[in-house]
Amino acid sequence: MTKQIGILCFSPTGTTKKVCTAVARGMGANDFQGFDITLPKIRASIINNSNNVFENIDHLIVGAPVYSGKLPLQVLECLRVIDGKGKGASALVVYGNRDYGIALRCMVELLSEHGFNVGAAGAFIGQHSYSDIIPVAIGRPDELDMDKAHHLGIRSMSTNICLSPEDIPVQIDMVSKSNKYSSIKPFHIDALCIKCGKCAKKCPIGLLSSDTGKYLNREAKKQCIGCMACSRICMQHAKVAKVNPIVKLVLKQILGKASRERKEPLVIVA
Ligand SMILES: Cc1cc2nc3c(=O)[nH]c(=O)nc-3n(C[C@H](O)[C@H](O)[C@H](O)COP(=O)(O)O)c2cc1C
Repeated sequence: MTKQIGILCFSPTGTTKKVCTAVARGMGANDFQGFDITLPKIRASIINNSNNVFENIDHLIVGAPVYSGKLPLQVLECLRVIDGKGKGASALVVYGNRDYGIALRCMVELLSEHGFNVGAAGAFIGQHSYSDIIPVAIGRPDELDMDKAHHLGIRSMSTNICLSPEDIPVQIDMVSKSNKYSSIKPFHIDALCIKCGKCAKKCPIGLLSSDTGKYLNREAKKQCIGCMACSRICMQHAKVAKVNPIVKLVLKQILGKASRERKEPLVIVA
């Protein structure tokens, strides 16, 4: 019998969603149920219906980007309330070619604690959200990455053993150890903004005014997670990742190696 596949993902700039879709296709799914928790409304409705939202799903593919070596808080918020009821799951993180930290292990841990049988896990590479400042992993996931994701999907169909968190390697450094999230907030260029409201619709936290494209207020700017969803959608280049020379230098230190050396996806099947 074909399994009904679901994809639960948070993906402000779209790379995580691409990888999740390739895994689902590898599992033979032509149609799958999408639970895209990027936008606040959908996230809230999934959190509020966490008991029965996955009723028709046999296998859930869960995908998240890596932020500062960890899972984004918005993903943690969801994973802490959903109930797997013994269903199968695949855990996927997508990172910007630097480091995936503790994110993948944390995802496997949370899914296992909440009743999912995690049969496969993977850490894939996506174009870094701050590539406008320093180009890193441009164009990824590329064809090779998508092939690997597809294969992970195929292989995950032939296992009924579960992974445990200890099966997942971690890359612990100062960034992933700290409970802080370092981010760069997009800069708004009013002269280029045509007030189309697209950025406001894309903001995963709902912080932008659809009339002006600017933060709703000062508090909103503080809450910005720097995901660059607004910058990626703006064809007018009115939202840009712009930093002063000192921050750029620091970022060069952090992302220097990642900008020069290609990393390959990590795939683990039980
Ligand atoms: C706030 C923030 C923190 C990030 N931290 C890391 C990191 O620790 N390691 C890394 O390799 N990439 C990091 N990235 C890059 C993203 O993980 C990467 O671009 C990912 O592909 C974005 O996923 P999405 O396209 O689904 O939004 C970070 C991005 C943001 C916005």
